[in-house]
Amino acid sequence: MDSIVVAGNGPLHGQIPIAGAKNACLTLMPATLLTDQPLTLTNAPRLSDIRTMTELLGSLGAEVASLQQGQVLALSSHDLTSHRADYEIVRKMRASILVLGPMLARDGHAVVSLPGGCAIGARPVDLHLRALEALGAELDLRDGYVHATAPGGLKAARFEFPIVSVGATENALMAATLAKGTTVLVNAAREPEIVDLAQCLRRMGAQIEGEGTSTITVQGVDSLGGATHPVVTDRIELGTYMLAPAIAGGSVECLGGRLDLVQAFVDKLEAAGVEVEETALGLRVTRKSDRLQAVNVATEPFPGFPTDLQAQFMAAMCTADGVSLLEEHIFENRFMHAPELMRMGAQIDVHGGTATVTGVEKLRGAPVMATDLRASVSLILAALAAEGETVVSRVYHLDRGYEHVVRKLGACGAKIERIKA
Ligand code: EPZ
Repeated sequence: MDSIVVAGNGPLHGQIPIAGAKNACLTLMPATLLTDQPLTLTNAPRLSDIRTMTELLGSLGAEVASLQQGQVLALSSHDLTSHRADYEIVRKMRASILVLGPMLARDGHAVVSLPGGCAIGARPVDLHLRALEALGAELDLRDGYVHATAPGGLKAARFEFPIVSVGATENALMAATLAKGTTVLVNAAREPEIVDLAQCLRRMGAQIEGEGTSTITVQGVDSLGGATHPVVTDRIELGTYMLAPAIAGGSVECLGGRLDLVQAFVDKLEAAGVEVEETALGLRVTRKSDRLQAVNVATEPFPGFPTDLQAQFMAAMCTADGVSLLEEHIFENRFMHAPELMRMGAQIDVHGGTATVTGVEKLRGAPVMATDLRASVSLILAALAAEGETVVSRVYHLDRGYEHVVRKLGACGAKIERIKA
């Protein structure tokens, strides 16, 4: 297993290109299952999760051609050979559950492995299943799989999500595009990735209104066509790299960065003493003072502060002036980066869903271990300003959601290299 070595090396200066959103691409790709026409996605990120979704769609008989070094995905599911998503693939990536709704909607049957838990929480899929049942699906859970049928096709419904769920909203939205009648999804997720999915589905001929709000209305159609759609910018990669100059000092321009995708995060960054400026090419981030100010954060569904940036923001608060409270309201176990940051000298007290971070002057480099995707990159961010060398092991977690971290940070002056195992 590879590791990444980082040595504190002073302020960063330069530009970092931001890729297409992993979490948008992982729901746009299964949309190919809704149509027998070709779907082309541009601005696709080159990540191991995208390769896993490609493998899953391939196992169903869909074709996924990766063009222009992976930045363009040409998908077609004209002739599916299977409607079974095996545990062997699903266990690698929970987003695999997103093939369920589209297969059910177009072909009336699907067998999809339950994803099982993951490091940051139990992450059940009960809301996906309840929403699809509301649309007329008949589900039988046995031997770790969901056996789903929709005899006579899906039928429109009004479904209210008891809690906001990004994935369940995506599954229900895709299924509803081919359900007979008008579907209303209430308390739907508002994430930009949902908006991006709706815009792509509309290009395919779907009739959708209200994406980005809590109520999405879908008028079912008989069939969908093909489309070409650009994957939206990755707001989590954007926020991650905005924290690099915040932590190390300096000034970095994030190319393709859009303020509307990260407004709640930027509000907290500015409160901590960082300047964020919109430029012709994206967002420029400059740390004005010698030390960040401690800021409290509570993660919420969009448009609130994103849970996927909590670990990275904690890394910034470790050396801030003062005490900050970070409340994790979305997942039940998303502080696994805390003990690793403490190995670097951070002062963090975790009680239930709240972490209290008391800023110290400097962290010290140490061997640390990545535990999940966002925790892994928070350790790299913390190491940028630590005294001495940090070795982050198990960086395969990182490859799931970040392409070329070493190259992107190295180009801005970071002392960082990847050590092949
Ligand atoms: C998506 O996961 C993202 N993944 C996650 O990003 C992100 O953290 C999360 O949304 C929240 O924004 C992808 O888009 C591939 P949820 P998802 O359903 O859809 C509970 C990353 O780092 N829940 O909004 O699985 C769930 O346990 C990943 O890129 C149920 O109880 O998240 C959680 O507590 C990590 N039943 C809460 O809802 C369900 O059926 C929100 O989960 C579904 C979810």
